[in-house]
Amino acid sequence: MERRKITVQTFLNMKGREKIAMLTAYDYPSALLVDAAGVDGILVGDSLGMVVLGYENTLKVTLADMLIHVAAVARARPKALLVADMPFMTYETGPRDALRAAAKLVRAGAEAVKPEGGQEIFDVVERLVKAGIPVMGHIGLNPQRVLALGGFKLVGKTEEQAKKIEEDARALQEAGAFALVIESVPAGVAKRVTESVKIPTICIGGGPHCDGQILVLHDVLGLSQRPPSFAKRYADIASAIRDAVGRYVDEVKRGVFPSPEYYKE
Ligand code: KIV
Repeated sequence: MERRKITVQTFLNMKGREKIAMLTAYDYPSALLVDAAGVDGILVGDSLGMVVLGYENTLKVTLADMLIHVAAVARARPKALLVADMPFMTYETGPRDALRAAAKLVRAGAEAVKPEGGQEIFDVVERLVKAGIPVMGHIGLNPQRVLALGGFKLVGKTEEQAKKIEEDARALQEAGAFALVIESVPAGVAKRVTESVKIPTICIGGGPHCDGQILVLHDVLGLSQRPPSFAKRYADIASAIRDAVGRYVDEVKRGVFPSPEYYKE
């Protein structure tokens, strides 16, 4: 049976019924693979700056970078919902800039966009939603604020911080967001947020009580240099690549490759 196309409405209907499984993907072949494996949503995350482009953090990722990767993933025509991150400083400057950036992401193939932040981006989220662009929120740890935070840390440890995260969640829901990513918070805080909103919550480093989970593909496959402690590695593709490339180099050096079945005289 052919898999149904997953939409924003599907995500909303899944809350309380079925857990949502999301992964990042940044290019055509990985999008084909994760989609065929059955993920509900693919995020073209600005984490590509770290795991693909080798930056220290996500701040150097530009809209031009994102457009290339979103278009590549969209060419896989995934059944999964295709969400694109809004990169640093494409929405903090206000709703008009946000609309312009989000429109480009949508034209590249995104079916929803994800800016980072809570109450402070209420106007941005509301304007995008009014324009017909679905918004996935991102609260808890916001990696685009790494300089102000002083590193990638667990947030929401004090009651004051936990309340702020809950207020952020409610504000984004009121602004029209259809789902929320909650990153790096104690499991109890993620549970409180999940129970206090009608839209699905999707956790990364937030424990098991959310409506879904998301991880970075390179962490799952064992391809990241510095994976976070909350990311489970499901495969060791780095070893498989090193082994395959090592054997290729060895065979070329020894004149074993190409053997007759790989060429014509
Ligand atoms: O950029 C990204 O991959 C993300 C996830 C960590 C949620 O925003």
